[in-house]
Amino acid sequence: MKKTLLGAALLLSQLLLAQTRQEINLKTWEFSRDQTTWTGVQIPHDWAIAGPFDKKWDLQRVAIEQNGEKEATEKSGRSGSLPWIGEGWYRTTVDIPRGYEHAELLFDGAMAEPRVSINGQEAGYWAYGYNAFRVDATPYIGQGKLDIGVHLQNVEESSRWYPGAGLYRPVTLVLTPATHIDDWSLYVRTMTIDKGKATVEAEMHIVNAKPGMVAQLSMTGPDGRTTGGGDLRIGQDGRAYAKLTIGDAKLWSPETPNLYKVRAKVLDKAQGRVIDEKETTTGLRTVRVGREGGFQLNGVTRKLKGVCLHHDLGPLGAAINKAALIRQILTLKEMGCDAIRTAHNMPSTWQMDICDSLGMMVMAESFDMWLYPKCKNGYARFFREWAKRDITNLVLNHRNHPSIVMWSIGNEIPEQYSEQGRQISLELQGLCNSLDPTRPVTQGMDRAESALSSGFAQAMQVPGFNYRVHKYDNNIRQLPQGFLLGSETASTVSSRGIYKFPVKVSDNSQYASWAKNYDPQAIKQADGQCSSYDVEYCSWSNLPDDDWVWQDDKDWVIGEFVWTGYDYLGEPTPYDEYWPSRSSYFGICDLAGLPKDRYWLYRSKWNTREHTVHLLPHWTWGKERRKKQTPVYCYTDGVEGELFVNGKSQGRVRKNRHSRLDRYRLRWNDVQYEPGEIRVVVYDADGQQIGEDVRRTAGNADRLAAEVETIGRLATDGQPRFRADGDDLIFVRVSARDKKGILVPTATNNLTFSVSGAATFEAVCNGDATSLQSFKLPEMQLFSGELVVILRTTTQAGRATLTIRDKQGKLKPTTLSVETEGREH
Ligand code: GAL
Repeated sequence: MKKTLLGAALLLSQLLLAQTRQEINLKTWEFSRDQTTWTGVQIPHDWAIAGPFDKKWDLQRVAIEQNGEKEATEKSGRSGSLPWIGEGWYRTTVDIPRGYEHAELLFDGAMAEPRVSINGQEAGYWAYGYNAFRVDATPYIGQGKLDIGVHLQNVEESSRWYPGAGLYRPVTLVLTPATHIDDWSLYVRTMTIDKGKATVEAEMHIVNAKPGMVAQLSMTGPDGRTTGGGDLRIGQDGRAYAKLTIGDAKLWSPETPNLYKVRAKVLDKAQGRVIDEKETTTGLRTVRVGREGGFQLNGVTRKLKGVCLHHDLGPLGAAINKAALIRQILTLKEMGCDAIRTAHNMPSTWQMDICDSLGMMVMAESFDMWLYPKCKNGYARFFREWAKRDITNLVLNHRNHPSIVMWSIGNEIPEQYSEQGRQISLELQGLCNSLDPTRPVTQGMDRAESALSSGFAQAMQVPGFNYRVHKYDNNIRQLPQGFLLGSETASTVSSRGIYKFPVKVSDNSQYASWAKNYDPQAIKQADGQCSSYDVEYCSWSNLPDDDWVWQDDKDWVIGEFVWTGYDYLGEPTPYDEYWPSRSSYFGICDLAGLPKDRYWLYRSKWNTREHTVHLLPHWTWGKERRKKQTPVYCYTDGVEGELFVNGKSQGRVRKNRHSRLDRYRLRWNDVQYEPGEIRVVVYDADGQQIGEDVRRTAGNADRLAAEVETIGRLATDGQPRFRADGDDLIFVRVSARDKKGILVPTATNNLTFSVSGAATFEAVCNGDATSLQSFKLPEMQLFSGELVVILRTTTQAGRATLTIRDKQGKLKPTTLSVETEGREH
């Protein structure tokens, strides 16, 4: 009797003590650049984004080999001209609740070379700033608390773009019993889909599994009903495996982003007790590539309509934020884009979660270089020792995301000419395949001839070529795969709302030549902007139109990833040598996230659900343009259009498949400017009118206007919703208007912002690549008449008010209010 009582008490105490898994997001830290002064910060955090911008931070004297340069010249703005180089320290303390036997810190990325200490002892290190990594904290939990310190170091010339700095992605503490499901071991994959039935394989590794334990798995469909599952036998090595059949499978695709919740449990059968449980999300879908059918999702051939994205979020820097990511992805989807390439590094987990739930396919990339350095202190320093560990973490961390449809092992790797390069390709591709047999592997190659003669291109499951479409025909003849991907395309450059005359198709030689020869005359003429007629590109690249010809006319081109969806910090080509350019011109959207004209060009081709009719340029020009030739373009899915200037027809124009610029655009090249209005009426192939667009000449700027962006925010009552959780962001689009309310596209007024109530000022950006005003101070000039202010909600629900003033008082101010809501919404 006594014995049984004792046994029961022991069991009870075990039950009380044995805690179930806890995953704690560690948001609050202290930060220092010198270990003397510490400031409180919330992570994700980017220590460099507030600036100030200065040429001195990243001035370089180099030849950019990728751009075909032979001689070193002075380069400014290459990595954003922000103070990201140097060291930084973060520290925080966490109390450990009693009853846990295992603890791990999960870093989703830390820039860069994170060295982690716990309770004064070195506990972990990772070399690559973009990768997720885990640190075992078990030895310290007995001490009741963890004093966590992270040392970061960013060395000069380690990046070809702005890398950001700091704990820019989340850090999670995972607490479990000694017997637990290893974090990245839970892996669920769709093997086949046939007549509405999906076969799914699931596996996991149970650490410290004991005899008598069982594992259970259940899958819950998008409708909330459990659709599959059962008991799994745990092998002697702790591994459990199951094959499940899911009837009435709701497939994942960009158009139908159906998700399944997978719940895994470890149970002590005898005691009827759950020891550990873990949840993950996945989708049912298959990916195939091949000669027949090209790229197939769920057995259906489709061409990838993709964009490359660097990881920074413009004025927010590298500090990841869900609201900003959702805005990006939804804006791209509205354009008809269905895929992104995470150039040229591992994505954040939040970004992949959002791609899963909103429906965006992903090429998840890893490296911009292997052994041969593209910049002096780049990843080449680590490749030999770290490459396999980095690929392993990339694949293990992300393989349940249905959005990821292929892995990429590299971008424009210099070794593509060599046998060594071919061997490394096979090794890294093989490693991806062994950790995840369900996705093909690719990489972007820029030296087609070298890559084909070394066998580097033939080795890849998906041969990806960057630019040089004129070589596609020659490439395909040598590829046993029978298809190829435009892994990077276009690199067309433009500045939102800036138009240059005369309109000339150009590979930017006018900028590049002064850059090379230091022609002082040309430097004077250069203004750090590119034309929005979308006719300028780089010497190695081409126009969007050139890519589409190949995708439309050749079955074996499986799609493209445009360089880039958004402007990013750094790489201000063609102004690599012009100060103060400090961000890119490649974006379809600018750095503030505002669509450039090019957005509508891609939309006219990619968005097959809705019509597009978009007219350019703006029609507010000074006296000096009167009677001057001012070409008018219309981006549309229609085939014919008629243009009117102040009611006078300029004739009908029809798309022409035999002309480089007239196959996908409607152009009136001889229009003479006179103020008033331009109007286009567009027709489809059957002669039916599909839409109109108008541009009107604006008068003097009179007032400021502000509008809250509502993309993805509108509830059924038509009102936007913002969460009072301290993380949500409110994007406000600000513009100068004339008396009639017409946007004044030439306004450059300097504005100030004050915010009160349920939000704080977070950042501001106008999309001007040459602006040196800080993103983090509440003052900025309009660029082409517009800018975007970003507010951050507080944790107190209520009304947030933003007041915008013209610093010189010339424009009438404006005030805008937004309601935020408690977490329960
Ligand atoms: C590519 C490269 C990208 C970017 C781009 C600019 O060659 O892969 O990272 O530099 O050029 O056009």
